[in-house]
Amino acid sequence: MGGGEQKYVQEAFDTNWVAPLGPNVDNFEKSIVEFLGGNTNVAALSSGTAAIHLALEILGVTSGDEVICQSFTFSASANPIMYLGATPIFVDSEKDTWNISPKLLIEAIEARIALGKKPKAIVAVHLYGMPYKADEITRISEKYGIPVVEDSAEALGSYYKDKKCGTLGAIGILSFNGNKIITTSGGGALVVKDEAIKKKAVFLATQARDDAPHYQHSSVGYNYRMSNILAGIGRGQMEVLQSRVDQRRFNYTFYKKHLAHLSEVEFLDEPSGYSSNRWLTCILTPSFEIREEIRLALLEENIESRPLWKPMHLQPVFIEYPNYSDGTSEDLFNRGLCLPSGSNLLESDLKRIVELILTKI
Ligand SMILES: Cc1ncc(COP(=O)(O)O)c(C=O)c1O
Repeated sequence: MGGGEQKYVQEAFDTNWVAPLGPNVDNFEKSIVEFLGGNTNVAALSSGTAAIHLALEILGVTSGDEVICQSFTFSASANPIMYLGATPIFVDSEKDTWNISPKLLIEAIEARIALGKKPKAIVAVHLYGMPYKADEITRISEKYGIPVVEDSAEALGSYYKDKKCGTLGAIGILSFNGNKIITTSGGGALVVKDEAIKKKAVFLATQARDDAPHYQHSSVGYNYRMSNILAGIGRGQMEVLQSRVDQRRFNYTFYKKHLAHLSEVEFLDEPSGYSSNRWLTCILTPSFEIREEIRLALLEENIESRPLWKPMHLQPVFIEYPNYSDGTSEDLFNRGLCLPSGSNLLESDLKRIVELILTKI
């Protein structure tokens, strides 16, 4: 926490706004809009997963549709496709950003169209805070007329050519889960361009209640709105977002400075014009065995590190669904490690981690 959060939470108690609406929700949304800039409208929701679910529903995804999804991601990017009874079509990553490969995306779209099934949407992810190749992906999206749901759950505070992540897709989503760059303990947001779409999202997120004095419903809704208490935490967290990004970027720079000279350790540099919030600092090692040796050596000292995300097309729950892959994300999963990356790490912590890694290589 940054320190300012309790004041806003107290305000909610003092004014008895203990509900999934109220001044903190409005002001939290305003502060996100101010940060993202441009013509954005933001709806604060109960989670990033809920935001992806609503984004897909708003784009008209329904039972029997196909939705393309970046395979190298957390399962929450893909699960909402299943909630809607649609079929996920997984697409592998490219090496420059570790995100959805433009080449394989085209291959997947053309193959699905040839099978008579034009995908209804594309879920593209800025993984670990690194922006995906937005110009290429947007061009493909426009060429084929398939909108992009921009999963920016891990990338608040990242930029792509001066545009903020969260504003690059037809609809963007953010997460404020406990492990994210800023948090409301649990929470998320939908970022849209059109105010009418925000209204529709809020309508669906509050049980789709029609305009009537009694409770009247013409469509199925959800209970997905953010609580005014948690939005108070969010207001305080927005005040420290930039310092959190600076801290995470400092972690990356520190690790890189002390490890990049080793031929066994590779870092993911930012392509020109990209700025990652460096949510997590990740390294690639030469082999699964060396990755495990480092991970277990850290664990022995009670320091947690984790393998990179296991691609969705290799997950038991999604294994039967079509995928367009060239082995890139599988290789990243086998050789990659997320290093401790908290915003509260001290230089002495980072030093200790680096020294441990150096003893193993
Ligand atoms: C890439 C990605 N997408 C979606 C989500 C879902 O966000 P939430 O946990 O707020 O539902 C997360 C994080 O949890 C994530 O890392």
